[in-house]
Amino acid sequence: MFQSIERRPPDPILGLSTAFKKDTNPNKIDLGVGVYKDESGKTPVVSAIKKAEKLLWETEDSKSYIAQAGPEGFNSHMATMILGENNSALKEQRACSVLAPGGSGALRVAAEFVSANFPDTRTWVSTPTWANHVPLLSSAGLKLVEYPYYNYDKHEIDIDRMMDTLKQASVGDLVLVHGCCHNPCGGDLSKDQWQAFAEAAEKQGFTPFVDLAYQGLGDGLEEDVYGLRLLTEKLPEVIIASSCSKNFGLYRERTGAVLMVGETADQVSASASQLLSTARQIYSMPPSHGAAMVEIVLSDPALKQEWLLELTGMRERINVLRSQLVVKLKSAGVDQDFSFIEREKGMFSFLGLNPEQVQKLIDDYSIYMVKSSRINVAGISNSNIDYLVDALAKVL
Ligand code: LMR
Repeated sequence: MFQSIERRPPDPILGLSTAFKKDTNPNKIDLGVGVYKDESGKTPVVSAIKKAEKLLWETEDSKSYIAQAGPEGFNSHMATMILGENNSALKEQRACSVLAPGGSGALRVAAEFVSANFPDTRTWVSTPTWANHVPLLSSAGLKLVEYPYYNYDKHEIDIDRMMDTLKQASVGDLVLVHGCCHNPCGGDLSKDQWQAFAEAAEKQGFTPFVDLAYQGLGDGLEEDVYGLRLLTEKLPEVIIASSCSKNFGLYRERTGAVLMVGETADQVSASASQLLSTARQIYSMPPSHGAAMVEIVLSDPALKQEWLLELTGMRERINVLRSQLVVKLKSAGVDQDFSFIEREKGMFSFLGLNPEQVQKLIDDYSIYMVKSSRINVAGISNSNIDYLVDALAKVL
């Protein structure tokens, strides 16, 4: 049976880690997969999570299944963290949260829910978008169409073309937007642009589908959900796929949530029942460990404070690196203007290199990044930035 199976090429993002691990160059730099790294190049376990894990080990007395929607405490803390305490949908019980296996699991469950219940829906995705959005969403049966998002020459959001294209989105359509820290370009909508987007959704009747994978890594935990909260206050329906991988550092624990905001409590609970039935068909029961730790951290003021401090540290480190990279490229005599890197948010930016230049960086300097020249800024450190800048200057 397996004789006819054809080998797939490595994943465009995950394949970089494999190649990086094999590389024996002591100067190698990994700017590929989007995981946070500290100054020593490690992805640390967040200290509040470590403490929560100890508490969990001491108190957990069963490994039986948890509730299918996940722990109530986890869901209510996630909903408050994302939507905000004063959100009308929360107060009127027009919002639900369902634990999912990571942000990707949340995207998938939401996508399956939409394609099973609204098979004619078109889902608009930004160009560019996370490389896995298209395979993940289209294999769940969603019909994808693209809207332009980023102007590669100007290194800014192509807001006019985006809004112009989205004039075609109408009732029954989903528009996938990145809540913050756009992956791969780092260009986020301004407050005015969120307002324009919300008004278009209201007027045309499309439903925003927000991928929130980096809350807290852009401008701050609250600041990063400005646009999302605006949508949930202004519009009858919003779907959100949220991830705890990056902000809680829980990558391997696969912890995320699907949130739905609807017009009435009854519609939302009916939709939640559909999400659970979808989840049951795919993976049956959710993983518990990550959600249990998030619940502990978010319900303990001291641990929450400790986590927030660490999250601030991650964000500030990335922002300092962004500034340093811009300054150092300029001092190295590179002609191009890289100041956009400082204005962009979160882990990623495009350097604006062509595929040959990217390949040269990999082959000649062991500097790994996605073919599009997307870099994970968190992979830069004080000890490798000069080597990186020198190689970039040469390649440019
Ligand atoms: C990335 O974009 O690098 C991350 O979201 C990791 C992944 O799974 O692709």
